[in-house]
Amino acid sequence: MRVVILGSGRGSNAEAILQAEQEGRLGGARVVQIFSDQPAARILELGARFGVPAQFLDPGPFKTKFDEAGETRYLETLQACQPGLIVLAGFMRILKPRFIGAFPQTIINLHPSLLPCFPGLDAIGQAWRRGVKVTGCTVHYVTAEVDGGPIIDQLPVRIEPDDTLATLEARVHAAEHALLPAVIARLSGTPAAESRQR
Ligand code: GAR
Repeated sequence: MRVVILGSGRGSNAEAILQAEQEGRLGGARVVQIFSDQPAARILELGARFGVPAQFLDPGPFKTKFDEAGETRYLETLQACQPGLIVLAGFMRILKPRFIGAFPQTIINLHPSLLPCFPGLDAIGQAWRRGVKVTGCTVHYVTAEVDGGPIIDQLPVRIEPDDTLATLEARVHAAEHALLPAVIARLSGTPAAESRQR
């Protein structure tokens, strides 16, 4: 299964995916391309480290969505990659129905809360300020409803009395790094444990 990763930031989840692939824990999935909408994003540095093409793709002038030309650019470039799975790993841009409709059941997103709680920005901070005792992370299919598509899997993270926002963030990110590669392996049709034995 050909996987394309889209990200906007430091790329720790993309790194976890690539690390899993290197260690034979990504099932039948193979990362073929990384794209970022930010020219200086650290996620792009992973390309050289892991031998995967990584490139900035101009999204257009807006901050959180594509303009029409940017959407067409992403759509056509991604179609040319023939992805079996498009992984939004910290891709901070809202996708519109035309884009989503071009890749049915193919785009998955990672979100740092137990959806449907705390959708949107700063989900870990939202959970922290709300005082919940359990939060976590979610992988879900992308639909036109932001952070609202069918949930594929989740991992819970308990908020302990001695946690700070920083320690909580670190544990949610660690949970993400475990969950996302495992979901990709499963979606590829070859469970991680089996792929390790091959
Ligand atoms: C991750 O925590 C991911 O869940 C979040 O951005 C971070 C990206 O980190 N995504 C969202 O909040 C999307 N709504 P990374 O660049 O280190 O992988």
